[in-house]
Amino acid sequence: MREPILYEFENYWYAQGRDLVLDEPVSHPLFSGEALAGMLTELRGRLARDREEFRPESLNSPVADGIRSFLGEWFQRIDFPEHGISTTSDRSWAMFDEGGVNTLGRNLTSEEACLLRPWPKWLYVRRLIPEVRGKSVMEVGSANGFFPFRFAELGASKVTGVDVQARKHDSAVWANSILGWKNVDFVNTDFLVDFSIPAHDIVFVSEVINHTLCPMWAITRLVTLAKETLIIDTGVFESSHHALELSTGWSRSNGTAQMLSYQISDGLLVSFLKVLGIRANEIVKHVEAGAGHILYMIDTRGVQERRRNGEMKEIPVNQRRSALLQLTLPE
Ligand SMILES: C[S@@+](CC[C@H](N)C(=O)[O-])C[C@H]1O[C@@H](n2cnc3c(N)ncnc32)[C@H](O)[C@@H]1O
Repeated sequence: MREPILYEFENYWYAQGRDLVLDEPVSHPLFSGEALAGMLTELRGRLARDREEFRPESLNSPVADGIRSFLGEWFQRIDFPEHGISTTSDRSWAMFDEGGVNTLGRNLTSEEACLLRPWPKWLYVRRLIPEVRGKSVMEVGSANGFFPFRFAELGASKVTGVDVQARKHDSAVWANSILGWKNVDFVNTDFLVDFSIPAHDIVFVSEVINHTLCPMWAITRLVTLAKETLIIDTGVFESSHHALELSTGWSRSNGTAQMLSYQISDGLLVSFLKVLGIRANEIVKHVEAGAGHILYMIDTRGVQERRRNGEMKEIPVNQRRSALLQLTLPE
């Protein structure tokens, strides 16, 4: 990677691979050793209760049949406590992989992480999120609906879960038909191109932007959707240099593309937020050191206010319409 440079010309500075002003957001560890110990106790307690309280007859019930009708879709564990069942009550319903951030830094095994997912993530997220009581909250990339249900439990006035995969969306709608949250809605759409999605007070997005076609566009879009707070929980690589790396996964049997993933550097992500008009002191980073994982807590009240007042000096004039997503639709 090239070293960042600041060139000084007669009339302007040219910042290459860095910001003009090197002001850094405040940074904290994602969780302390003490918090981690508490989370592991809580999570292993949940797994122990799964075993102790398991009732085989719960697998022969209408709720179990509903879960089975979405077999292969349960990326997340959804619990139905009133029915004594969850989407991992039968191990074959769960989705097993390496477990990623839900291993809490490999302190849970992959199996534990996948049987619990995303409870481990929720335990660190819930300590960091602002008060949601009375707020509208949206999760972008809501999969089976786990986080919207948590936001509703915490008293959010209105919750929206957006997901592009129809079957994931349908599974969340079905789960809510059992759980009965009247203020939770799920929308099956692609947030990159669906401009009918309204702004919400708080927007939460976890492990999504790096899997989108255009992550910088995704971030641009998310900033327009968050009235007060944008929470971006994502894989990054810890470097102050500006870098974006594309990886793709392919089926070996038929050559079909299976996945697309970007690794964005922390430095580029923060600089891009600044280009959109967010100030360093409006971003707080929660870093899982050595894990390539940062949760960015972004206070968007200031940027929305400045945009309303036409204060956009951080955004070059040529990019302002794009940054504000000011569309011109055909007649
Ligand atoms: C890795 S999963 C993460 C699910 C959940 N946020 C979590 O943390 O457990 C990513 C989800 O984002 C959804 N997604 C990806 N791109 C999207 C897009 N452009 N619009 C809406 N949803 C998207 C996928 O369908 C998938 O359900």
